[in-house]
This record gives sequence, C-alpha cells and structure tokens, in this order.
Amino acid sequence: MVDSSEPVAAMVARAVGIVGRTHVLTDPDLTASRSVDWTGRFRARPAPVVRPGRVAEVAALVAAARELGVALVPQGGNTGLVGGAVPLDGGVVVDLTRFDGVDDIDATSGQLTAGAGATIGAVQAAAAAAGWQYGVDWSARDTATVGGSVATDAGGLRFIRHGGTRRQLLGVEAVLGTSEVISHLPAVEKDNTGYDLGALLCGSEGTLGLVTRARLRLVPPRAPASCVLVAFGSIGSAVSAATTLRREVVELEAVELMVDAGLALVCSSMGLMVPFATPAPATLLVEVASRADPHALLDGVLTSMDGVVEVVVATDERQRRELWRYRELHTEAIARVGPAHKLDVTLPPRSLADFVTEVPELVASVAPEARTWCFGHAGDGNVHVNVTGIEPGDDSVDEAVLVDVADRGGSISAEHGIGRAKRRWLHLARGPADVSAMVAVKRALDPDGICNPGVLLPSGS
Ligand code: MLT
Ligand code: ZN
Repeated sequence: MVDSSEPVAAMVARAVGIVGRTHVLTDPDLTASRSVDWTGRFRARPAPVVRPGRVAEVAALVAAARELGVALVPQGGNTGLVGGAVPLDGGVVVDLTRFDGVDDIDATSGQLTAGAGATIGAVQAAAAAAGWQYGVDWSARDTATVGGSVATDAGGLRFIRHGGTRRQLLGVEAVLGTSEVISHLPAVEKDNTGYDLGALLCGSEGTLGLVTRARLRLVPPRAPASCVLVAFGSIGSAVSAATTLRREVVELEAVELMVDAGLALVCSSMGLMVPFATPAPATLLVEVASRADPHALLDGVLTSMDGVVEVVVATDERQRRELWRYRELHTEAIARVGPAHKLDVTLPPRSLADFVTEVPELVASVAPEARTWCFGHAGDGNVHVNVTGIEPGDDSVDEAVLVDVADRGGSISAEHGIGRAKRRWLHLARGPADVSAMVAVKRALDPDGICNPGVLLPSGS
C-alpha cells in the first residue's frame, strides 16, 4: 500500500493537475523500488512518485506541498548510500529524471548546463563531444544524476585532480522550499556577485529545495591515461606511497586503495583473475595523465618507494579498463555479501594507515559477527568502511567507527553525505554554532519543513 493519508492523497490529486496523470505513480509495483535505497538498508513504505518535467511544475508542487504540509523527497538515480533519497518520513517522492537535458554547451570556455536528471555519464559524454572533460566521475556514472551529485557534493575517483562537485558548480536553477525559483546559470566563470547559492545548495541534500539544473565547469581533456596496479607489503607502505605520489607526480589523476580481503572478494564474486602472483595486504591503483608513460612513472617514483611487491601495468585502453574493474566492482561485490553499513570517512594523512589497519578490530570488538571491507580514495584520505553482517537498524558499529574517526581528526562524511545514516553524529563534525546556522538557513528557505525532512539536520530542528 502506498501512503494514502489524507494530506498525501490530496497532494496526489494536486500533482495530477500539475504534471498530468501519466507522471504520477501510485501503484506499489511501480513505486516500491523508489522507496528503498541502493544498499537495501533504508526501506520506507512505498510512497507516491511524481515526475515533473518543467521547473514551473516543480514550483507548483512545492506550493501545494506547503499548503498541505506534505514532505517532498527529491530523487534521481537513487544511487545514494546514506538513505537521503527515500521517503522514510512519508510524503511524496519527486523524481527529477525527466530533467535529463544537457545543453547550452560552450565549447570555447568549457561549460554546460545539465538537468538534475542527466546522468554523470551523459555529462561526461557531452563534455567529450565538445572537446572537454567533466572532472567528476565514479562507478555509478550511468545511473547517478547531476541532481544527486549536487545534493551530496559528490567527490569520486578524480577528486585529487579536479575536486568534488562543488568545485565544478558555477550556479544552479532550483525551487526553494518557499516555492520561489532561483536561477543563476552564468555564462562566465569569474563571478562574485553576492552569495553563492549554488555552493550553499550543493551538499544540502535536498533540505533547502529541489535543484532542477546546474551550470557546470568543464576541465581540459587529458589524453589517454597510464594506469598501474601496485601491490604493497603493508597498508602503511601503500598509504605513504599515495602521499608521495600526490606530492611528486604532477599529472596524477587517481590513487585508489584496496586491501587484501576486498580484492579477493571482488575476484571471487565477480569472476576476475587474481592480479598478482602472491596476495598482498594492500594495493594501489595509480593513474596518471598521458605524457608521463607508465614506465617513466615506475622508474621515476614507484621503484624508489618502500614496500612495493609487484606491479601490473596496463599497456592499452582495454587493460586500463580491466584494472579499474578491480576497484570499481568493490561496491557491487560487497552488496552481494549483504546490505552494508556505509561509513564514508576521511582521515588526515598521518592517521590514515593506522585507521585502515585498526578499524576491522574496532568493528569486531563491537560486532564480532560483522565483516569489514575497506577501500577508497587514498590520495585524499577518503576511506569507505563497509560493514556487512549487522542489522540495518543497529547503529553500534556506526557509533564506534564515527567517534574513532572524529578522535583521529577526520571527517564523518567525505562524499556520500550525512543523509539519515549519520544525522545522529553531525555534532562530531560541526559545532553547535555551525549547526544553528544551518538550521537558520533551513528555516529561511524551507519555512514549512517540507524539503526532505529527516535528512542531514538533527531531529527536531
Ligand atoms: C566508491 O568510491 O566506489 C563509492 O563511493 C563507495 C561505496 O560503495 O562505499
Ligand atoms: Zn567513493
């Protein structure tokens, strides 16, 4: 049964008038998948799904939701990992995937405008066709959308080179929780005209309004990259190699960390060949942009590093893609073990190796039956601690790990967002004055609290 409480039923009727009957879904067979997150950890009762196609329709939906007191939960590809796009607090899902255009491409200055529902892959393809590149990338590229990327300030695999979504964002079109439409999609890059509302909405996780379009900065294209997989004798040597690479290899594009258990799982579960003669405690996937050939990289930097045990070099594009599969398939391989608690954290470089080495023991001390899988973006200190074998609602491991991260001077959310999964621990990352400022902004832009309630901010705010 979909939520058929009186206000939601009234909202459905209003939505039919705004977007047309074909774009309002109430059949649970069609809506159920939109009420559970990608991990399967966050499951809500199926909620109606409304699919607007124009910004005026979104504004009318927000006005109706205010009047009726109904929550709106924006959703794109539904690849989020912190329960930020599922209607656990009731209301209506606003599916923005009809905003899938990529237009106003400026091939001279390297900018484009993407609809909230355009996939990251579509933006990348449009950028490439214009002779540019989009600087943000991650494995869910063909499903994840620009709207979700802006909502979470997604980072991804090339953060060390180009930064996260906020750095690519020149401006947005969005419907605020007041139902007003803000639109600043500048054609120029240098622009300091007042508050950067796009930057404010970026990372706000749908709590201030619904982003409908984004003006994105592109980066100069890099010619085909060189890619190596390097096995290390310890997590410590892999982490210090990542730090050295970041400092010494100017054209570094990505440095990704895998550990033995995760790599073995990916090989067995996804049918990949084991890449090394002997399993190693830690592996880095290192990619550099053209010009530096892989041998120069190896001779110049990696061979001088401690702890290198074995190196696999991709000599062509097909092999490069294959090496990336070892890293990119981690998420899917872990999902086959069971719904994971996703603890996406960043550590300062000095604490990273100890954290990755010690976190499985910490998890085991709280939940002996759990399994811990660590991988991530070693170049920027971002580790994905995935824990399987614990109940979706059991927060004890999350508590232990997030407190430990904060004690070590890290951040409890690097790129997935706070969502529902971590809102209890926002205080570990942000002080009381920061949180009150966020709440004040929320109240100003979403006075009736209809924009994605239950997400990001502490309960009761
Ligand atoms: C990734 O980098 O592959 C995703 O952000 C991580 C995850 O599945 O935890
Ligand atoms: Zn990641």
